[in-house]
Amino acid sequence: MDADLLRADLAALYPQYGLRVAHRGTVLLAPTDEELLELAEIVAEPGGIVAPGRAGELLGWPEDEGVPAARRFLEWAWRLREAPSAARWRVPLAVLDGGRALGLAVLAHEIDDPAGTARTSSWLARAEQGRGLGTRVRLMLLELAFGPLAMTRAVTAAAEGNAASRRVSVACGYRETHRETGGDGVVEVHAAVTAAAWRKKRLRDVDVEGADGFLAAIRS
Ligand SMILES: CC(C)(COP(=O)(O)OP(=O)(O)OC[C@H]1O[C@@H](n2cnc3c(N)ncnc32)[C@H](O)[C@@H]1OP(=O)(O)O)[C@@H](O)C(=O)NCCC(=O)NCCS
Repeated sequence: MDADLLRADLAALYPQYGLRVAHRGTVLLAPTDEELLELAEIVAEPGGIVAPGRAGELLGWPEDEGVPAARRFLEWAWRLREAPSAARWRVPLAVLDGGRALGLAVLAHEIDDPAGTARTSSWLARAEQGRGLGTRVRLMLLELAFGPLAMTRAVTAAAEGNAASRRVSVACGYRETHRETGGDGVVEVHAAVTAAAWRKKRLRDVDVEGADGFLAAIRS
């Protein structure tokens, strides 16, 4: 089946499949299995996302590769496929450029989060890092969160040593809120941005479509 038709059928059941965020040739869409398999290939590749030995920067991802890594990623991504509700919603979005899946970004609201708070996380294939795409993707996620979804605050966390992720947060207007040390000894730096602070960094010309169905689901 054509990917757009498949996404339309999925959107009738899971409104996150109707969301589309676009900016200058980069498109964020809820991934079908075809895109998840492309992403699994990146995850499985040794050093596909972070340099060998730096997996600790991914906060909880084990240092694996090949088939176990691909399966772990797919099973994690499939578990995120659930009907959104006011109490909890998760929107994984494939980062697509020229029809290729280059990474994954997730916008979510978890059960314990205060009303109006969204979480973001993302990764890009290593070959695509360091040319501004990560900053654009974060700002695209925030456009969805603070625009049609009317969130008031977005939060994120990065390992203390993850300079790129922390720089993206600063560039998007986040401020550090607190630090926590995980069981593995990695220091997590938590940061938050308000809608007002994001507005000063907002990208022009981000196009968000299909938010009505999703908004209805998380408000019901
Ligand atoms: C984190 C990530 C999404 C950022 O995306 P990116 O496209 O590499 O980042 P950008 O090119 O937009 O750069 C953002 C900033 O980080 C800086 N930066 C990029 N790579 C860097 C590095 N390795 N060390 C230090 N700074 C770096 C850039 O100079 C830029 O700084 P500026 O805003 O002051 O100019 C991407 O690097 C990635 O996927 N990393 C691996 C997965 C990961 O760590 N995800 C986050 C888990 S919490």
